Amino acid sequence: MDEKARALTAAKTAAGFRAADMVEDGNVIGLGTGSTVFYMIERLSARIREEGLKVSGVPTSYQTAIRAREYGIPVVTLDDYPSIDLAIDGADEVDPHLFLIKGRGAALLREKCVAAAAFRFIVVADGQKVVPRLRAPVPVEILPFAVTPVLAQLRGLGCKPVIREGVRKDGPVITDNGNFIADCTFDSIADPALLEAEIARIAGVLGSGLFTGFADKTTVIIGNEKECRIISSADIIP
Ligand code: 5RP
Repeated sequence: MDEKARALTAAKTAAGFRAADMVEDGNVIGLGTGSTVFYMIERLSARIREEGLKVSGVPTSYQTAIRAREYGIPVVTLDDYPSIDLAIDGADEVDPHLFLIKGRGAALLREKCVAAAAFRFIVVADGQKVVPRLRAPVPVEILPFAVTPVLAQLRGLGCKPVIREGVRKDGPVITDNGNFIADCTFDSIADPALLEAEIARIAGVLGSGLFTGFADKTTVIIGNEKECRIISSADIIP
């Protein structure tokens, strides 16, 4: 592993571990998806084994459900717990308003449902994810039945949408919910909240990776090799 990769792993591990340490006995936790969440699961599992911590988790993807079971975290659903104590998840970009772009792992729809159900939303990220303005392609989950009209309407919002292709699978990525993902590149995202609402209005869109509705309950843990930086709604620049 080269020095850069080692530092990135250390940053993700620090953020994940710090989030796991915020979990309290009896909590029901939303378990996000991705490599940073993986470290959180690892640490949570150790706390269950070593401290006898009693928790359960709502996974946001098949990947996370499989990992949670492997690591001894009891898995529950939003049917069991329509509201949960906290959700812990990764992000692809975080801006100064604590608006996010998520969905690199195509789990954005369940991630948004779980974040919405949570009283607190804890985002774990490495420093590369913190940006002055959101600019990454916005993943949009699309009902395959409506893909052509949806893509036309997304173009009408000023982006170039590209249907995400599988790796070691021919053709489009099929999400855990049976849908397609379009990665939508905008020249600039002036108003992320407005854009999230405009995308959500398109019939056939199930959700987007813009997360602008949770800033009030969000805490971002930015991992670092030495110590983590914590940003919460109190730090938002108006
Ligand atoms: C999956 C996501 C992930 O949380 C996001 O891509 C961050 O992943 P990682 O921690 O591996 O960088 O949104 O849909």
